[in-house]
Amino acid sequence: LVCQASLRAQETVVSEPSELADIDWEDLGFGLIPTDYMYVMKSDGSGNFTKGKLQRFGNIEMSPSAGVLNYGQGLFEGLKAYRKHDNNILLFRPEENAVRMRMGAERMCMPAPSIEQFVEAVKDTVSANKRWIPPAGKGSLYVRPLLMGSGAVLGLAPAPEYTFFIYVSPVGNYFKEGVAPIHLIVEHELHRATPGGTGGVKTIGNYAAVLKAQTAAKARGYSDVLYLDCIHKKYLEEVSSCNIFVVKGNVISTPAIKGTILPGITRKSIIEVALNEGYQVEERQVAVEELFDADEIFCTGTAVVVSPVGRVTYRGQRVTYVEDGFGIVAQRLYSSLTSLQMGLSEDKMNWTV
Ligand code: COI
Repeated sequence: LVCQASLRAQETVVSEPSELADIDWEDLGFGLIPTDYMYVMKSDGSGNFTKGKLQRFGNIEMSPSAGVLNYGQGLFEGLKAYRKHDNNILLFRPEENAVRMRMGAERMCMPAPSIEQFVEAVKDTVSANKRWIPPAGKGSLYVRPLLMGSGAVLGLAPAPEYTFFIYVSPVGNYFKEGVAPIHLIVEHELHRATPGGTGGVKTIGNYAAVLKAQTAAKARGYSDVLYLDCIHKKYLEEVSSCNIFVVKGNVISTPAIKGTILPGITRKSIIEVALNEGYQVEERQVAVEELFDADEIFCTGTAVVVSPVGRVTYRGQRVTYVEDGFGIVAQRLYSSLTSLQMGLSEDKMNWTV
């Protein structure tokens, strides 16, 4: 029955570009809206991924003893598809996500799909769910690839089998503030990552580890948490779900990637865009005190895109950068990046697919 269902799914996946799902496109946030299809591909005994297929989006079955459920052997990725005014669909640097998943898989002792398999699977999943891609200018289709140890283990060891999934959801703004600036609190007791740990890869446990501080911060009215390094408790690391940038004059600084910070694809793209636009970019240790001297702060990530930070609070001291809207630099970089992603400007870097 499952086979018949997935065959039927494969036969009927292409929807007309003009057909749109019947949802309120004006009111998208960042919550799951289930769509039509998901992609599933399993590894064989030797760790090769073959015969991936689209099937109806729905719950999955797994042994209670699966490696991912017991020992957290899992990775995820995030990228977005945008609908252009001519109804063509653009992906932004999908091969970068494939490479990052492979790097993470190496750290987590998992086999991973090849770059080509990953990108083809993303394209198939997005095409199959085309009617869920918001109209141009109304948001994007968030694409969530997952790699997990799905085989059963009891003693601590890599799982004997792995499953690669992709599901998608239409999304709007990540923060409940919408495009308004966010308010961050600097956390100086709990840490997100440690040297030698897994902070630099997109493993699922990194995100569970930030929930305690994030939940407490939200309960106190902050939008999210900015983490410090765990050795000196002095240098900025990242926000729970995104990277951080500090602007002073023409210089844009961001914490260097040294194993505890996620190598964000938006981070990397913004650095290249900023350099092209004549800013000086420094990837280095950024001390928490620099927050008090900065002209602007902004966050970058696939989900958050470029989000302006309005205020930061550190040990009871609050600094305000913008009351509403973007700072000048963040606005300029946001516009350059999103016009590329949405196909509104010439893609000289060949980033869109
Ligand atoms: C993304 O920006 O795609 C992420 O993976 C962050 C996630 C917590 C939404």
